Amino acid sequence: MGDLTIVRSVADLRTQITAWRKQGKTIAFVPTMGALHEGHLSLIKLGHERADKVCVSLFVNPKQFGPNEDFEVYPRDEQADIGQLEGVGTNLLYAPDVTEIYPDGHTTSLTVGPIADILEGECRPGFFTGVATVVSKLLLQVLPDIAIFGEKDFQQLQVIRKVVKDMDIPVDIVGGPTVRERDGLALSSRNAYLSDEERAVASKLHHTLQGIAKAVTENQNIDTLLSVAVEELKASGFGDVDYLAVRDATTLQAVTDLNKPNRVLVAATLGKTRLIDNIAI
Ligand code: PAF
Repeated sequence: MGDLTIVRSVADLRTQITAWRKQGKTIAFVPTMGALHEGHLSLIKLGHERADKVCVSLFVNPKQFGPNEDFEVYPRDEQADIGQLEGVGTNLLYAPDVTEIYPDGHTTSLTVGPIADILEGECRPGFFTGVATVVSKLLLQVLPDIAIFGEKDFQQLQVIRKVVKDMDIPVDIVGGPTVRERDGLALSSRNAYLSDEERAVASKLHHTLQGIAKAVTENQNIDTLLSVAVEELKASGFGDVDYLAVRDATTLQAVTDLNKPNRVLVAATLGKTRLIDNIAI
């Protein structure tokens, strides 16, 4: 496919974006932390459908990892990522160094508010501050027409919509559908941590979500459904279930109306790996 241009500084990024703007091109942006899989590639393909040029960023953001999380061991293979990006015709890769994003003296960070304090935000303090800070910086650096995020990280998608609205960042945020393995497991860079045995039970997470979504539409009692499902997950080999919740799809607060869009979301550990997933109800 076409040539991939690689830039590592904000200045070079802006030179390329400005040149495209002068030619009247529209730009889609897909932020990533690398370790690319079919889920990311589907977002890039969506970008090609919606805009003339697709820019992808690759930056493992230290500010969104907690002290005991997997920042050091997070899978990194830039050459493999570049091969995948070329394969789907990505036009521009922005792969900055940490000092380009957080130069000496950088102190500003974004606190998002209630939507970022629940679910993932409660389990991973500081996570959404890190995400909101880096994503707002990347959006202001690239200034794309649209930016695409996977629905796999549904709360992250809704947090980013909130940030963009509250901060008047002129970009349309687009959610891309979750890509799944044949047995239903949502693709994730962290699936690489699973042993064969763990991989064999991991799809139980998606089947649990499907069962709950169906039962909710049949008006079964949500609290009972959730507590039974947590026990079943544990019985099948999952460890801590950080949350399993049915929430309003926009605010992620408690459901107020079963006829409005709602979402069932889960985070659970399997061995040393923490998996998250969600589906629409
Ligand atoms: O979803 C991710 O990969 C990251 O959270 C993101 C959006 C690239 C910000 O670092």
